[in-house]
Amino acid sequence: AKLLMVIGMLTWFFTGCSNPALSVVKPSGEVGKMQLNLIYLSTAIMTLVTVVVAVIYIYVVIRFRERPGDTHIPKQVEGSTVLEIVWTVIPIILLIILAVPTVSTTFQIEKRPAPSQHPVQINVTGYQYWWKFNYPQAGITTANEVHIPAGRPIEFVMQSHDVIHAFWVPSLGGKRDLEPGRMNRLILKADKPGTYEGKCTELCGASHALMNFRVIAHQTAEYDAWIRSMQKVNSQAKSVLAKEGQRLVGQNCIGCHAIRNGGYKVLGGKGPELTAFGQRTRIAGVLDNNPQNLRAWLQNPQNVKPGSRMPSFAHLEKKQIDALVEYLESLKGSSQ
Ligand code: CUA
Repeated sequence: AKLLMVIGMLTWFFTGCSNPALSVVKPSGEVGKMQLNLIYLSTAIMTLVTVVVAVIYIYVVIRFRERPGDTHIPKQVEGSTVLEIVWTVIPIILLIILAVPTVSTTFQIEKRPAPSQHPVQINVTGYQYWWKFNYPQAGITTANEVHIPAGRPIEFVMQSHDVIHAFWVPSLGGKRDLEPGRMNRLILKADKPGTYEGKCTELCGASHALMNFRVIAHQTAEYDAWIRSMQKVNSQAKSVLAKEGQRLVGQNCIGCHAIRNGGYKVLGGKGPELTAFGQRTRIAGVLDNNPQNLRAWLQNPQNVKPGSRMPSFAHLEKKQIDALVEYLESLKGSSQ
């Protein structure tokens, strides 16, 4: 039964992740690959131990079973120095085999990248239940979606605004806690451009399971263009409806949400920055970004993310919601 359970669990372990962007066994970066090698090593050792124990157990149960007509009491044995040494030394050897690569990998992963590798620093702040990504070198901020250049080491410097969260991008590596009042670092690299899913992996409240983010890795030129488009963003409304939306944002949203170059003094900071919001692939990290979903989010955020600080705007008239949606979806990075 033990063996069947282990086989069952291994099957689940290797096939359970249907989303390749959220899989530890399909790593897309150095750190993920090193961590996967450790997972393979420890799984192999665990399997070996389980198989050996199961084989000895089955052998003993069959070989020394009670046979009909045999009433004699077997030889009674107490203590065996040889056996005790054997079952103490074997686990010590197994633990050394496990410990040496684990410690050396841990130190390798922690190594700060050399300036010649052009590392990018990104400051990550965890909030219940969203992620702030700030690029100190470029002076821009975004939320729930972090753009990175592929092939360069990214140094995530993280802390929490409230409770403990944890940053994990299964296919790139992790995890690292975000703690209030303490900076932690995690260095990751994506081998190639692509979208990698990230998760909060420390129970942090009602919407912990919905505290998702995306890592979008670009070719260097494309990444540089994204940075420039965020720096030069123009957040002024173009259409009449969007202009009404911009006015409503000033009345309803700007206390919490900042929008760069949006025409008003920026007060926001408590909520996710909405600069170039229309370009994001998701709303609040969980809904596909489209007008219907944005309308649903504005009217009942608790339905989407229970415990979120985002208030409901169900009291606004339908055409006011339409105007807000029109303006927010029009927010794009500068194309020049
Ligand atoms: Cu944040 Cu779980």
